[in-house]
Amino acid sequence: MDLTTNYMGLTLPTPIIAGSSGMTSSVKQIKALADNGAGAVVLKSIFEEEVMHEYADFIQTAKTEYGDPQYFDYDGQRNPIEYYDYMIREENLKKYIELVEGCKASVKIPVIASINCFFYSVEWLSYAANLQRAGADGLELNMFFPPTDFKHFREEKEALYFKIAEQVTQAVSIPVALKISPYFTDLGPMIQRLSKTGIKGIVLFNRFFSPDFDIDKLEVKPSFVFSTPSDLALSLRWIAVMANKVDCHLAASTGVHDAAAVIKLLLAGAHAVQVASCLYKNGPTFIREMLGGLEAWMTGKRYRDLADFRGKLSQERSADPAIYERAQFMRYFGGKRNVRL
Ligand SMILES: Cc1cc2nc3c(=O)[nH]c(=O)nc-3n(C[C@H](O)[C@H](O)[C@H](O)COP(=O)(O)O)c2cc1C
Repeated sequence: MDLTTNYMGLTLPTPIIAGSSGMTSSVKQIKALADNGAGAVVLKSIFEEEVMHEYADFIQTAKTEYGDPQYFDYDGQRNPIEYYDYMIREENLKKYIELVEGCKASVKIPVIASINCFFYSVEWLSYAANLQRAGADGLELNMFFPPTDFKHFREEKEALYFKIAEQVTQAVSIPVALKISPYFTDLGPMIQRLSKTGIKGIVLFNRFFSPDFDIDKLEVKPSFVFSTPSDLALSLRWIAVMANKVDCHLAASTGVHDAAAVIKLLLAGAHAVQVASCLYKNGPTFIREMLGGLEAWMTGKRYRDLADFRGKLSQERSADPAIYERAQFMRYFGGKRNVRL
């Protein structure tokens, strides 16, 4: 049985990618994921914001201990604030580069580095160039400019997605994917237009940390970290709708908790399927379990490779394309009296 897939021009031995998360932040874990059949790995993102937080912490500590950091005396050559900003950035980037290099030395599957920077930051380009140099096989731009930002207009924020995608793809020769959220006004056309920027893959969709409330302590607390199987619905619909309407490959992310979900997303038209929550819950061996389920299903259907069935249930190839656009819980779907609500 042949489970290889081509995703953004890279050859993956299997279609299951270990998605970006804490599970992909060390060489040891990544080796375990590869040993259990991951087709590729997307490393935990390098976050520009994290660098900024470290910098802010440093300045705070320095102020408490030494007074105004403007007056730090170390070599009299450079502005100390700029110097420490630079040092912290370099230290973080160095650690991430070491992670890329360590993975490349330990696993044969493609290693995709992941970048998350601020809106207007030039760091997108700098990180991309550095990670290509470190040996990453591809890049995933974890791009999310929150819709909770009220200072900038939608057009301005959307334009940045295009600008960054175009500039990064021109700056590096390795394939670049965009991992996006579903929070766009006009999602379908937006995905289609993004696919024409020179990128080789789009990941539908990222899932974010959400706040929850502790009603006894009357506090906000972090929660809903992991997805549930019902979260699959959103990525399934959108992979099926967008397959064959984009100029790049699609990878699915969110809500994959068993082999059936992997199969559904391939039937919808995905070239690869990313998993994160299920790895936290079941460990790296769960990839092997899901691959076993995929192979058993393919054997039953007499499919020999993924191309035999990829996209078979995409909207374009569906006998009932309208079903993908239904939104309301009406009594009758597709003219058939088979759904009672
Ligand atoms: C603890 C945790 C950390 C994550 N860190 C990142 C990250 O650094 N970058 C990123 O693009 N996605 C990150 N994600 C999102 C996952 O890659 C994935 O898109 C999301 O969890 C949905 O997939 P799932 O349903 O398989 O969990 C993280 C997810 C979890 C649960």
